[in-house]
Amino acid sequence: MSGPRLSRRGLLAGGAVAAGGLAATGGYLTGRGTAPGESEANAAEQPGTVPFHGVHQAGVATPPQTYGAFVAFDLRRGTTRESLGRLMRLLTDDARRLTEGRAGLADAQPELAGIPARLTVTFGFGPGLFTKAGLDHQRPLTDLPEFKGDRLEERWSGGDLLVQLCGEDAVTLAHALRLVVKDARDFATVRWVQRGFRRSPQAQPPGQTQRNLMGQLDGTVQPVDLERAVWISGGGPSWLKGGTFMVLRRTRMDLEKWDAADEAAKEFAIGRKLADGAPLTGDGENDDPDFTAKDFAGFPVIDDHAHIRLARVEDPALRMLRRAYNYEEDVTPDGVVDSGLLFVSYQADLARQFTAVQERLAGSDLLNEWITTTGSAVFALPPGCTETGWIGEPLLS
Ligand code: HEM
Repeated sequence: MSGPRLSRRGLLAGGAVAAGGLAATGGYLTGRGTAPGESEANAAEQPGTVPFHGVHQAGVATPPQTYGAFVAFDLRRGTTRESLGRLMRLLTDDARRLTEGRAGLADAQPELAGIPARLTVTFGFGPGLFTKAGLDHQRPLTDLPEFKGDRLEERWSGGDLLVQLCGEDAVTLAHALRLVVKDARDFATVRWVQRGFRRSPQAQPPGQTQRNLMGQLDGTVQPVDLERAVWISGGGPSWLKGGTFMVLRRTRMDLEKWDAADEAAKEFAIGRKLADGAPLTGDGENDDPDFTAKDFAGFPVIDDHAHIRLARVEDPALRMLRRAYNYEEDVTPDGVVDSGLLFVSYQADLARQFTAVQERLAGSDLLNEWITTTGSAVFALPPGCTETGWIGEPLLS
């Protein structure tokens, strides 16, 4: 019944505010999402939490939280299916505890666990994991190729095991990251950590498209039917049913050069307006772009090499789900900032949904003038698990 459920949510929200508890809950009630397969009533039970258990792993369909940390591990030599199973049991157990606001099993700072702040912990298996654990016959993916224009660096690429941590609070995330890394120590070494951020729900109401560091509204066009576009149903190995494939590409933005471009050139490159994200042929962000429209001189209004034309996928069921994070690392002594986008996408079919688009973009996207991809990694995300199960169990048990 929606009535009682709504009032319960209202009470929880109201209670938190009345008690001055907005900081404690993070005020995330309005922004929290319900993962597919999870009941709304259940979701409302604990303010500030995103349920860990479900048909799918949390952290994919979950509305993106403010902070993201992506950790890739290389499995140690001698890893077996059994030892990997032990690691996944350990990691799953700590993930479920932390996302519920409980201390991890061997948590040296249990005091830090009390504010889950919509923490999600999501696991992915890279191509190398299957080889190292003797599971090549079950391997559902290979490394992505190096695309034209890529300047890939080892330190941002590849990885056997991915842990994606997202949450609304940087302290919660730091604590969770530390625990995950400690859990994995005997089994794996850290290959890379990539951190990103978005606007917080306090700064921008959840549900609105956010801007990336180039100032563009980024994330407007998304799949409508996640069951078809994101979650793997048939066709793949049975242990992956309910899972998805994730791509992470670290893309540096040459913001100095971007600063020097005028507004018209910036809008031309994307095919959308900077002010409101409307297509160059429309008035509002959600207007459909008209790729046939011509200007007074007979040229396409949205250029043949504009990002949105090349990235366009007409069949909404084949669109990738994009869940990008901004990054900002070093500032050189003369004031140049290394910043860009952790482009993250989830899709049921890597070749048809990701690689096909990426190949078009690599060839001639106007945006390439200002961006360079320095990291690339791909993972199979197993389905979610029940309260007594663990992530990867159907493959590893
Ligand atoms: C730094 C790198 C990138 C930037 C700054 C960027 C920016 C944007 C912006 C501003 C839009 C228009 C608004 C929207 O629909 O979100 C867009 C659309 C899109 N981008 Fe990117 N993008 C980047 C990389 C990529 C990559 C690597 C892919 C996939 C291989 C991709 C796929 C898409 C898709 C599928 C759309 C929607 C196109 C449509 O149907 O209208 N983007 N991107």
